[in-house]
Amino acid sequence: MSDLLTNSAQHGGQLGEGYGRTKPQGADFSHGIALYLEKVSVWFDSFRALNDLSLYIAEGELRCIIGPNGAGKTTLMDVITGKTRPTTGTAFFGQNYDLAKMSTEQIAEAGIGRKFQKPTVFENFTVMENLLLAAPRDKRVKKSFFSRLAPEAQLALDESLQQIRLQEFIHKPAGLLSHGQKQWLEIGMLLMQRPKLILLDEPVAGMTDAETERTAELCLELKKNHTLVVVEHDMSFIDTISEKVTVLAQGAILAEGTLAEVQANEDVIEKYLGR
Ligand SMILES: Nc1ncnc2c1ncn2[C@@H]1O[C@H](COP(=O)(O)OP(=O)(O)OP(=O)(O)O)[C@@H](O)[C@H]1O
Ligand SMILES: [Mg+2]
Repeated sequence: MSDLLTNSAQHGGQLGEGYGRTKPQGADFSHGIALYLEKVSVWFDSFRALNDLSLYIAEGELRCIIGPNGAGKTTLMDVITGKTRPTTGTAFFGQNYDLAKMSTEQIAEAGIGRKFQKPTVFENFTVMENLLLAAPRDKRVKKSFFSRLAPEAQLALDESLQQIRLQEFIHKPAGLLSHGQKQWLEIGMLLMQRPKLILLDEPVAGMTDAETERTAELCLELKKNHTLVVVEHDMSFIDTISEKVTVLAQGAILAEGTLAEVQANEDVIEKYLGR
């Protein structure tokens, strides 16, 4: 397998001959943009959840998205991950992946990882088992879960564990972890896929202050190697991690800028923050 990977790296991401399929070449970020959403609208019957929304996320950026309940923040993540299709408009990952034409699995394989609002770890499995379950399957072998780990999976496991700092709990059933630890485990599970773009939907909801602080540290660490889009209502958390903040309301962008800038924006005060 390591030969195969070396071979694949040397040939522009194509898998070597004889394996019956070719791998996509990987997202093309040559223009410095990881995600392009252009004039995206999503209609649910007669309700418009996203309204002509255009959003560009630069490679390596950590973008925070805030806004009132029902603003369309989760719907935006659903569009990016293929769970919901844009009714009109386009969504591209890099120059080359037309997200509206890809399945959720293809989008995950292309390098977009997402954490949902509620943690979805397998409570009866240990931390390690949860991480292994999240490792990409080698489609050529059936016996993957209990068989020996491929070297790159071991590496991904070590890196994930180190980032989420759950090494001492690897044999603990996930059901016995605290809420915050479960959220970190889920982030670790998505890191097993080696995503380029990570979407986090309300990662600190329900966390203690200490867990929230630790999650802010984790986001800043992840930023070193990933592009991140983080949706949150917790303003002190946003204040700790944010660079550019986008405020969404009624499916459209209300304001963009630093947190201080958007907090001083009259529209934002009126429609979101209150006086
Ligand atoms: N599948 C669906 N069918 C119909 N309406 C939907 C669907 N999904 C979302 N909506 C509606 O679209 C609007 C936007 O919802 P969304 O979940 O994106 O908001 P949000 O910004 O994530 O809110 P919150 O901060 O509460 O999580 C809401 O009014 C919601 O009821
Ligand atoms: Mg939401």
